[in-house]
Amino acid sequence: MPLHRACIIFSMSSQPRIIDPLPRADDRFEPALRPRSLDELVGQTKVKENLAILIAAARQRSEPLDHVLFYGPPGLGKTTLAHILANEMGVSIKVTSGPAIERQGDLAAILSNLNQGDVLFVDEIHRLGKAVEEVLYPAMEDYALDIVIGKGPSARAIRLSLPRFTVIGATTRLALLTAPLRARFGATFRLDYYDPASMLIILQRAASKLNVEVAQGGLEEIASRTRGTPRVALRLLRRVRDYADVRAQGVITHDVAHEALDLLEVDELGLDELDRRVLRTIIQKFNGGPVGLNTIAAAISEEADTIMDVVEPYLMQLGFLERRSQGRMATAQSCAHLGLPYPGEPQTPALF
Ligand SMILES: Nc1ncnc2c1ncn2[C@@H]1O[C@H](COP(=O)(O)OP(=O)(O)O)[C@@H](O)[C@H]1O
Ligand SMILES: [Mg+2]
Repeated sequence: MPLHRACIIFSMSSQPRIIDPLPRADDRFEPALRPRSLDELVGQTKVKENLAILIAAARQRSEPLDHVLFYGPPGLGKTTLAHILANEMGVSIKVTSGPAIERQGDLAAILSNLNQGDVLFVDEIHRLGKAVEEVLYPAMEDYALDIVIGKGPSARAIRLSLPRFTVIGATTRLALLTAPLRARFGATFRLDYYDPASMLIILQRAASKLNVEVAQGGLEEIASRTRGTPRVALRLLRRVRDYADVRAQGVITHDVAHEALDLLEVDELGLDELDRRVLRTIIQKFNGGPVGLNTIAAAISEEADTIMDVVEPYLMQLGFLERRSQGRMATAQSCAHLGLPYPGEPQTPALF
């Protein structure tokens, strides 16, 4: 049964991570915690202010929202913001994703079912196929659907008009978006990691909605290890609550949170075993770099995409990793954090 075997091998290749910022099926309680309006959304002040203006202007002119693109690492609120925008505009939202739209006809079917003002949310928009993108261009620009009827010499193109709608795109990889697609968004916003104060507010709200009992310092301890990512914060809160329920009469204190997170091997900066393994590999196996992403991925049997999307952005934010044209480099700070000697800058060959 080759197919069966392939599945097992695939599932073994990436281990589940407690701090994985990607959505998982067991994020069951998250919908209840998702902010519903811009006011409820914690942090991202600049983005929020810009969006508030975008919404107010569209409302004043009784027009649909301009097309909006959100980009940034996973778990920071791109999907949440798409729902908030639709909610604030009082329109419905249709959710799809780049890989889900395989053929031009799939997109045509989605587009022709939209109503005036509706939001079409396209997650992972960088994964749209080229042919599908070509249907999206005139739809976004002229609210028109070009379809070809028939085949060969008798084929003819007809143009159907669509209601005015809004595309909200989300991507973790802005660089992979084609220039023409990027150009069709009226507004593009980058989401950044949250500061510790925002993370604490997010945790406080979640704890109160979930009726979790906390004592001084418990949530602060969790907040400091959430790598500025709300999805990670909510997941850690859930795991620490489990620990508190089983070992500490259900109360999350500073010490309980500390013990629970140590047991989960999430360190004081929010790094887990995979982050540390990537750094150790660069430092110890490749003398601190530069080393290519695929080489690192092969050395630790992890997928290059996972390393690029979920490991590297946070390590770079911490100043632990640099991406250079020759490859990845570990910095002196990362060595200090891991207690390893810093191999130093790579020697540039002498010219003479
Ligand atoms: N600013 C925020 N305040 C409170 N919760 C947030 C915020 N941003 C994201 N979340 C929560 O974090 C989780 C991940 O957000 P999501 O929008 O799915 O991220 P993304 O689409 O960028 O991967 C969701 O459960 C959401 O409720
Ligand atoms: Mg999302």
